[in-house]
Amino acid sequence: MSSEFRDAEQFLLSLNAAWKNLGLYSPTHPAAATALQNLRSAFEKLLGAREQITLGLLHDTLVIDGVPLTTKPELYQNFMTRLEKGEIQGLTLLKGCTLEELRHLVELLGRNVKRDELEQEFQRRGVSHILIVQLSQDGAGPPRQVEVVEERVGAGAIYSRALQTIRKVFQEVRFGKVPSVGDVQRTVEDMVGGILKGKHSLMALTMIKSYDEYLFNHSVNVGILTMALGETMGLDVAALKELGLGALLHDLGKINIPETIIRAPRKLTDEEWAIIKRHPVDGVKILEQMGVQSEIALRVTKEHHIDFDGRGYPSLGPDEQPHPYSMIVHVADTYDAMTTVRVYSGPADPNQAISRMKKLAGTAFNPLTLDSFVDMLGIYPPGTAVRLTTGEIGVVTRPGGEDAARPWVRIVQDREGKAVEGEEVNLMEWDPQAEDYTWTIVIALDPAIRRIDVAKVLQANEAKLAG
Ligand SMILES: [Fe+2]
Ligand SMILES: [Fe+2]
Repeated sequence: MSSEFRDAEQFLLSLNAAWKNLGLYSPTHPAAATALQNLRSAFEKLLGAREQITLGLLHDTLVIDGVPLTTKPELYQNFMTRLEKGEIQGLTLLKGCTLEELRHLVELLGRNVKRDELEQEFQRRGVSHILIVQLSQDGAGPPRQVEVVEERVGAGAIYSRALQTIRKVFQEVRFGKVPSVGDVQRTVEDMVGGILKGKHSLMALTMIKSYDEYLFNHSVNVGILTMALGETMGLDVAALKELGLGALLHDLGKINIPETIIRAPRKLTDEEWAIIKRHPVDGVKILEQMGVQSEIALRVTKEHHIDFDGRGYPSLGPDEQPHPYSMIVHVADTYDAMTTVRVYSGPADPNQAISRMKKLAGTAFNPLTLDSFVDMLGIYPPGTAVRLTTGEIGVVTRPGGEDAARPWVRIVQDREGKAVEGEEVNLMEWDPQAEDYTWTIVIALDPAIRRIDVAKVLQANEAKLAG
């Protein structure tokens, strides 16, 4: 048995002990306090070097980070029943989870609370290191930095050139220079060309998230997602270019915000918020200095934090409404931010981000814009790592046919977890002998946890398809 399994069992054992002791004694009683301390150490051990761990129910099996636990079900029964009764699919415990937070978890699950109540109580009690997650995905660890290798062909080359341009623009502004708008325009043209050729390979690359170069990757990602969405919504090339220019530069005004504020793992003070809120208007000023004349580019930069219902910043005049194009950037910007690891919370995977955003249709987002975005992404956006019913692991490369749950997948690990250069398979393929599909997605995985370089896989896939 691997040590991870042992650690998982130890954790569940401690959880059971904590339930028992917290039920019998007050939380400050030595027996209860010891049980909680044991639980905390078991959690630390299980977590190891990871940033987070997800426990949940999938087809009546307890899974930890996508790996099913099948030995000693008697150990898990208690926990599983509580999840089931509460209609809770999964829980992600983040590194830094405190003893207090674990106590709240034990206490609330012990009362068999339902999902909604659990969520409310977590919020009320300030439990920020335990997240309730959907388990059609496993929401495992936050993505680590994925290197963008230069000189790639096709989408990869477009992505890395865009990243270079953006990096240069930000650095020039930081050193008090005025960057050339010509470079950015050429990059935008490059990107629009890539989008028109087939937006899915570029969209897949937006799964590249970087912590150290967050602002640069974020700018490129928002540029790609905005232009892809604009194209989906039927905008012409000229409009796409203006929109793309604004999207690429939308956060340029953030150059003036100190790192300590951007990365503050806490609630910001009023003064800090005031600084953050200046970035759209600061951005417009820089764009104007650069000689950007496009009304659309200036407008989306100014309005990318304004909601569909007019809330947000900077404040609009009484009869003003945000431009429909700003609503496109707003959706792309929010989605990329939500799917990127942040200092105070783990990343949401694509599906979690979408379900959170859907709750804001009509308030934060234009419902029609959001609908188009959701349609465009599909259930498993390209770049999503998935475990298949065959036990193999793959990366979604492009949408399949009519069934959004059955895209094309490039196999990257065999059922033993060994890295392979597998084929690209169509999940629509039917096995007449088994009278079932040959492959079906079981769960979406975090590529970082599986050590999958999504960008590299997509790149290789693209090259193979082209060749
Ligand atoms: Fe922004
Ligand atoms: Fe942004």
